[in-house]
Amino acid sequence: MDRMRLDKLLALQMDISRKDAGALVRQGKVCVCGQQVHDSAQKVCPADVTFSGKPLDYQANFYLMMNKPAGVLTAAWDAKQPTVMGLVPDKLMRRGLQPVGRLDKDTTGLLLLTDDGELAHQLLSPRHHVWKTYQARLICPPSPCAEERFAHGIELSDFTCQPARLHRLKDGDTPLYEVCLREGKFHQVKRMFAAVGSEVTALCRTGFGPLLLPDTLAQGQCRSLTREETEALLKSGK
Ligand code: URA
Repeated sequence: MDRMRLDKLLALQMDISRKDAGALVRQGKVCVCGQQVHDSAQKVCPADVTFSGKPLDYQANFYLMMNKPAGVLTAAWDAKQPTVMGLVPDKLMRRGLQPVGRLDKDTTGLLLLTDDGELAHQLLSPRHHVWKTYQARLICPPSPCAEERFAHGIELSDFTCQPARLHRLKDGDTPLYEVCLREGKFHQVKRMFAAVGSEVTALCRTGFGPLLLPDTLAQGQCRSLTREETEALLKSGK
């Protein structure tokens, strides 16, 4: 198990600042291998640490959800444009943290980030592809047989999509539709709507496997997954 700075470990595990973590250490509330410690900068093995007599609920890997805003790239780094990694606050940053899959620059919504490369690989592999849910605002209603065509698998110029579920959420000149699909090819949702005579003007991902985009997570913000969310996600990748 990797060793890390005590104040960083406490801050990550307890969702507090490093300064507050240092204060807890100075107050004598933290033990390492059963011994009270006062140096919050020391490197420790997470399994050796207790707080107020209880072991830390330590997770080896780190899982974050972000409500991606439009205008940022889903990439670890880019020389010219802002990326989602620039939106991760320092206290949630970890070595190896990466977005799982991609959303287009103008797509908003739920993006998973993790340092668990094995899970990321499983969630994206064609064998495991998890369901993803999107809300799409359209420029005009799609053709009347759109739901049926999505359900059968839309034929695009270079491949036939797997069956997907389409559901109208709001009528009108610029209707809102929900689409659930298991694939994640380049511009896939936009291309599927283009194939049924419409055009996506705004796209937001609201679900990824068992995860749902919470109303409380504003665009540009991220938070760690809860223990329940993490367990559900790990199960969906198996
Ligand atoms: N489909 C798209 O067209 N764009 C996305 O960002 C995600 C799915």
